[in-house]
Amino acid sequence: MKILGLSNDQIIAAVRGGQVRIAIFGMGKMGFPLAVAFAQEGANVLGVDPNTALVEAINLGQNPHPLEGGLDDLVRPLVERGKLRASSAPKRADVYITLVPTVLDDNRQPALGILEEVMQTITSLLEPGDLVIEESTLPPGTCAKRLWPVLLGGALSEGQFGFVHAPERTMSGRALEDITGAYPKIVGGIDLLSTEAATALYSVINSKGVIPVSSITAAEAVKVFEGIYRDVNIALANELALLSGHYGLDVIEVIKAANTQPYSHIHIPGAGVGGHCIPVYPYFVSEKPEAELIRLARQRNEGMPIRLVSMALNELQRRGIAWKGAKVLLMGIAFRPGVKEDRYSPFFPARDALLAEGVEVHAWDPLYSEEEIATMGVIPAHSLAGMDVAIVITDHEEFKELDWLSAAVGMHNPVLVDGRFILSPTLREQNLTVLRLDGR
Ligand SMILES: NC(=O)c1ccc[n+]([C@@H]2O[C@H](COP(=O)([O-])OP(=O)(O)OC[C@H]3O[C@@H](n4cnc5c(N)ncnc54)[C@H](O)[C@@H]3O)[C@@H](O)[C@H]2O)c1
Repeated sequence: MKILGLSNDQIIAAVRGGQVRIAIFGMGKMGFPLAVAFAQEGANVLGVDPNTALVEAINLGQNPHPLEGGLDDLVRPLVERGKLRASSAPKRADVYITLVPTVLDDNRQPALGILEEVMQTITSLLEPGDLVIEESTLPPGTCAKRLWPVLLGGALSEGQFGFVHAPERTMSGRALEDITGAYPKIVGGIDLLSTEAATALYSVINSKGVIPVSSITAAEAVKVFEGIYRDVNIALANELALLSGHYGLDVIEVIKAANTQPYSHIHIPGAGVGGHCIPVYPYFVSEKPEAELIRLARQRNEGMPIRLVSMALNELQRRGIAWKGAKVLLMGIAFRPGVKEDRYSPFFPARDALLAEGVEVHAWDPLYSEEEIATMGVIPAHSLAGMDVAIVITDHEEFKELDWLSAAVGMHNPVLVDGRFILSPTLREQNLTVLRLDGR
């Protein structure tokens, strides 16, 4: 059933009554949980993805993203009831949702090719009353200036179908939980009818409700600004960590105490910022002349892994150990603890900086197999044995819980560079060298 122009109650009843077909383009870590959330509430969902392995897994009732929590037991019953299917071939629906990668190209410009292609496909399927919803994060203005003209290039004209941006505000690893009720959904349409239809639609799956904003561009900006806020905040935290070195302070102690005041929300400093989101969104606006602080924050965050490497190399030099051939262990490939995602992880610039100096680079990440680690141009490791330096890149639980004293026993040189503030300074009393970003 077409939902554009129906009342709130009619839309909710149509979804719950199994009368609405939703096609979701992109069955990745975000698109698949969204498909499950809508199918759970009664919609007939088709997941569209060129990745045939993903498509097959879904149609077999499997969760193709096992690290996304809460999905495993939901998929099979939905597939068996015919509520959820996947295909590489798009089909007609009533609502089309896009959740495809919008990363950066080699020039750090947003790569919108996949999304534009998908919009072309949707354009060829559109019927009067359809609603198109773009959920991938985009530079403000993209929907109105680049995608809307694509959609208007088909047989339908303005007013005959709806177009909305409804940014995905989730975090990988907890997508289903976020989509269904961690925080409200933001919705901004190309016109009021679109906004109203999408507001009703998302109210079916999101228990925290929907916040309609005044335009499609405002909805794009909400998500981009959220990401930029976090990047700039982390850059500030990193700078405060480095500043703390001048005063002999423990930056974490100071930040924690400062944040007890309700207007202080200083983030945690560390080895750098990774993932598809936070390091990417600043580049969506960074060419604008006013984005000075945003550009500077990015530079600060991108410099952090290199700073850790310098700390390690300087310590080797101080000890008279040649860099070439020295064994340095990078602890952590994933950009976030407990999540097997390494896009833009600080691991990579750290690895490259070490390799450039002729260092023998080893890596240990409990989420990655030896084979996977070997494809990254480093030597897989499971311990600190034989290393000259270990650099903590990711604060995985396994590393936090490590008995560092015993783990460091077999090191050639017991030098630990802590990029995540997980090591106890008391280790120094046991003849270990522990180096932190705040110099403590
Ligand atoms: N991962 C996150 O934490 C996160 C959080 C918020 C927002 N987002 C946004 O969501 C987008 C998607 O993120 P994700 O984590 O699901 O990415 P992902 O890489 O896990 O999934 C993207 C999927 O799109 C598919 N795809 C590629 N080309 C396609 C096409 N032509 N038609 C249909 N599907 C196609 C891919 O095969 C893949 O399965 C991101 O680019 C970002 O804008 C991501």
